[in-house]
Amino acid sequence: MSSDTLSITDNRTNKAIEIPIDRGTVRATDLRQLKTDEYDFGLITYDPGYMNTGSCRSRITFIDGDQGILRYRGYPIEQLAEDSTHLECSWLLLNGELPTRSSLTSWENQIVGNMAVNEAFKPFMSSFWHDAHPMGMVQAALAALGTFHPSAKKVHDREERQIHIRNLIAQVPTLAAYAYRHNAGLPYVGPDSMLSYTGNFLNMMFSRGETRHRPHQVLERALDVLFILHADHEQNCSTSTMRMVGSAMTDPYAALSAASAALYGPLHGGANEAVLTMLREIGNKENIPEFIKGVKAGQGRLMGFGHRVYKNYDPRARIVKRCADEVFEVTGRNPLIEIASELERIALEDEYFIRRKLYPNVDFYSGVIYEAMGFPTEMFTVLFAVARTVGWLAQWEELLCDSDQKIARPRQIYEGEEIRDYVPMEKRH
Ligand code: ACO
Repeated sequence: MSSDTLSITDNRTNKAIEIPIDRGTVRATDLRQLKTDEYDFGLITYDPGYMNTGSCRSRITFIDGDQGILRYRGYPIEQLAEDSTHLECSWLLLNGELPTRSSLTSWENQIVGNMAVNEAFKPFMSSFWHDAHPMGMVQAALAALGTFHPSAKKVHDREERQIHIRNLIAQVPTLAAYAYRHNAGLPYVGPDSMLSYTGNFLNMMFSRGETRHRPHQVLERALDVLFILHADHEQNCSTSTMRMVGSAMTDPYAALSAASAALYGPLHGGANEAVLTMLREIGNKENIPEFIKGVKAGQGRLMGFGHRVYKNYDPRARIVKRCADEVFEVTGRNPLIEIASELERIALEDEYFIRRKLYPNVDFYSGVIYEAMGFPTEMFTVLFAVARTVGWLAQWEELLCDSDQKIARPRQIYEGEEIRDYVPMEKRH
């Protein structure tokens, strides 16, 4: 008997099977051999929330949650945050290798040169209610953007995919800035080919009148680093949504819209907004013990803490914290950082959080930086979506090139009524 196998005896029938183990994984479909009779569908696994199910093989992002390790294509996140740029990381995530100087220059030119969206988007964005949430606007805008690109439906055509991957990375920041300016009642500002990707985004957000917004170099770099940190995170909720929708051969604009909807939730990318709301509600350091007591009693969660995968300090949170110090040197200290730091200190010494291995995640400190840079709270998750667009698309491309993949379609354990006859209205109680 080979050692890389698993022997299972089904005690209902005494049937014994041996199934292969490949890289610490058994195939769930191998369990279907275990049946109680010939009509039985076969044994299936029950895994709500996909706590222990590998949905794909991937070569993009590696996480070791126990040790707090994150790598893109093998490169440690710390090194990328130190030395790389968001567009270089985008190339890396999409192509698997760091670009040469000429490939990077060409990629940067392609992206910056494609940031303008169709003029028809201005009336489309203007049609939202004045205080529509920018994340709702971006989701809708992404789906709408796809209607301008019918060729995006040719998902089996690699060249077409490359065109739309480039369009989306280039244009999501523009849609994001339009959403902000709609809320602010400001005229839309288009991209400027003289600026960098991140500089362009800041200019489209914050320029006033005819004057080009000249972001402080430290702030532009800090935002670029935050984009790097958020660029991919393997099979999280929104990326799995991208893959699930993409598995139906849906075009990438619609799939990205769905992924951004998943990101919007407060347990996922919406946490950065929720953290700021929480910090404001706490108000000052004296209120923290009472707040923690409430969390431990089940009256809400400590937002920005805890992670499905990290059972150690999220390596991104460490970098974000350092970034905050650099940003505050330029903008002045956001007073909420004092509450956040004290919350972290108290939580990390508290038995409740220690026992459950709850540490700050990437979103615990990102919001205080965004706020210091002048972004309104509602834009925080949009910033996350701008950065994560790259990861979603890299994972989508990988899905489409993976011959193992099929349309995603989980099973269920049906626990409802057995067959029964329809009851006419007059006979119902
Ligand atoms: N505050 C208080 N208690 C928490 C928290 C928290 N933030 N997170 C988890 N717990 C507790 C749970 O109540 C549970 O306790 P129990 O065992 O007594 O029932 C235990 O820790 C395990 O929690 P689960 O919900 O089972 O963990 P799961 O892996 O399903 O959830 C999640 C992970 C959603 C991130 C969770 O930690 C959470 O809600 N955090 C706050 C929201 C947040 O910051 N989300 C951003 C995540 S990062 C990202 O998506 C970019």
